Amino acid sequence: MSTDPMRKVCIVGASGKLGQYMVRHALDRGYEVVGVCRERSVPKLAAYADRITIVPGRTNDREVIRKAVAGCDGVLTVLVPWGVQQYSSGTAQAVLDHADPDARLVFSCGWHVSRDGEDQYSWRFRAGVRIVTWLARLVRAVEIDDQVEAGRRVFASNRRWTVVRGSDLEEGESQGLPVWSRHVGDPILVSNLTRRVDYALFMVEALTDDTLVHEAPAIVGRLSPSALGHAGDGRAAEPAGNPTSPSGDVA
Ligand SMILES: NC(=O)c1ccc[n+]([C@@H]2O[C@H](COP(=O)([O-])OP(=O)(O)OC[C@H]3O[C@@H](n4cnc5c(N)ncnc54)[C@H](OP(=O)(O)O)[C@@H]3O)[C@@H](O)[C@H]2O)c1
Repeated sequence: MSTDPMRKVCIVGASGKLGQYMVRHALDRGYEVVGVCRERSVPKLAAYADRITIVPGRTNDREVIRKAVAGCDGVLTVLVPWGVQQYSSGTAQAVLDHADPDARLVFSCGWHVSRDGEDQYSWRFRAGVRIVTWLARLVRAVEIDDQVEAGRRVFASNRRWTVVRGSDLEEGESQGLPVWSRHVGDPILVSNLTRRVDYALFMVEALTDDTLVHEAPAIVGRLSPSALGHAGDGRAAEPAGNPTSPSGDVA
C-alpha cells in the first residue's frame, strides 16, 4: 500500500459507464474529483455536478488534459478505441506528458493489450479481436490498434503507471475487488467476466496500491467460476495486488 495520501484525483473519460462508477468510488473515498469528458456528455454527470469539477473537452486534447490533471495525486484514464484519430494513444500521451511527476496513473483497456507478449489467448478470443478490428476499420468507427499503441506508450514510460486490463464486462451489484493475474491464459481468468462496478473499484484501489506500480493486471470477477475454482487453494481470496508467486502466476 502507498504511504502517499491521495487527495485529488482526475478521471479522464468520466461520463462513460466505467467513468461514472469510478467517480462514485472516488467520492466514497473522500477524494476531490476532476472529471474530463466531451462537451456533449457533460449532462451525463449531472448527478455529480455539485460534487466534482468538470473539464469539458476531448480527452486527446493536450490543453484540456494539462488543465484537468494539474495538482492531481492520481489520474484514472479510460482508454477507448473510438474514432480514427488516435484517440486512445493521444489521450494516454497527454496524461503521461502533463500529469504531476509523482502522480499515480491508472489506465483501463482490454485483455488484448499485452505488455510482454506472454499472454496466451484462446482461438475464440483471437478470432473475436481480429473480427472486431477488421469490422472497425471497415466502418471507420473504432481503432483497436490504437489502444494497443496507447498501451505500448504507457509501458515504455517511467511514470508510476498501472494498466488494468479488463475482461468482458457485465452490469450488476458489486462482488468485491476482482482477482488478477499478470497473464491472460492463467486458469483463474478463464471465466472472462467482471462486473463493471468492480472494474472501477479495482482502478480506484490501484491508486493507493504501490505493489501495482508498473504492473498490467488482467482482472476477472472474484465470484466468477474460474476465480472461485482457485478459492479452494486460498488464492482467489487474496486481495488484488497480491499474486501468489513472484511471476504473478496464480495457478
Ligand atoms: N465493454 C467491454 O466489454 C470491455 C471489455 C474489456 C475492457 N473494456 C475497457 O473498459 C473501459 C470502458 O469501456 P466500456 O465499454 O465500459 O465503455 P464506457 O465506460 O461506457 O466508456 C466509453 C467511453 O468512450 C467515450 N466515447 C464514446 N464514443 C466516443 C467517440 N466517438 N469519440 C470519443 N469518445 C467516445 C465515452 O465518452 P462519452 O461519455 O463522451 O460518450 C466514454 O468515455 C475501456 O478502457 C475498455 O477498453 C471494456
